[in-house]
Amino acid sequence: MRLSPEQRAQFDRDGYLFFPSLFTPEETRNLTKAVPDLYDRREAYNVREKGSDAVRTNFAAHMISEPFAKLARHPRMIEPVEDLFGEPLYMHQFKINGKMAFEGDVWQWHQDYGTWLNDDMMPTERAMNVAIFLDDVNEYNGPLMFIPGSHKKGVVEARHDLTTTSYPLWTVDNDLIRQLVERAGGKNGGIVSPKGPAGSMILFHSCLVHASGSNLSPFNRVSVYLSLCAVSNHIRRFKRPEYIAHRDFTPIECLPDDCLLKDYPVDLPWKNGLPGSALVTSSDPIDAIKKAA
Ligand code: SIN
Ligand code: MN
Repeated sequence: MRLSPEQRAQFDRDGYLFFPSLFTPEETRNLTKAVPDLYDRREAYNVREKGSDAVRTNFAAHMISEPFAKLARHPRMIEPVEDLFGEPLYMHQFKINGKMAFEGDVWQWHQDYGTWLNDDMMPTERAMNVAIFLDDVNEYNGPLMFIPGSHKKGVVEARHDLTTTSYPLWTVDNDLIRQLVERAGGKNGGIVSPKGPAGSMILFHSCLVHASGSNLSPFNRVSVYLSLCAVSNHIRRFKRPEYIAHRDFTPIECLPDDCLLKDYPVDLPWKNGLPGSALVTSSDPIDAIKKAA
């Protein structure tokens, strides 16, 4: 799937593109069916909500589960991003966020690139988030909120919040959010919230400021997030475990467009458990590790 000049201009202006119902109900079902088995596992890659057993985020399902391994190579997700960056991509991060009915907690205002820079030493913002809704997203179940155009600010000041939720995040303070929302139109479009059926896709810039509220509704809001990084922009530090920030910079090769409906061979290296190496971390940059070896 390629982007039109109008879509490229819109992405440049707003920092995101929304594709309602890009995947069919049949394609989406094959993904949704595989989620409970992943969430049931008592593994480090399942981060649960504060004080609850509900999964907040599941990492690296593309290394474990066949439908998600195929999604990670899907041309409808990979090709537009390759097009925008003009080079091959590798998978920096792969998440299935639960935001479960009644239990799903907030995601504070943040930019993803803030974390990738501060924790992983990713050199530039040449990385992209692609979200796919596995449930319908509506105004009740904690939809994503974006500040359109906020990516143009580049990396903004952030604070490492280790306490608000069960997951540490570099977050942006309220005064700056107020200014950014005002600049984007205040009550008239300063915050947008793409909503739509399961199977919809959002592509959003790694510096776009975003957040989501809690899910007090009885409707789950499970979504998959691929974070795709230009290969030349690979991370320079392994401070976070490999299941959170991947260390294999091999370019992604796409499968055919019907891959979610047919059998295609895919590797599932972590199917039977995480290797010990995926838990090893270091605060040193990769170059220093290589020199010491
Ligand atoms: C994120 O920003 O990484 C997740 C936000 C959400 O799932 O609502
Ligand atoms: Mn984010």
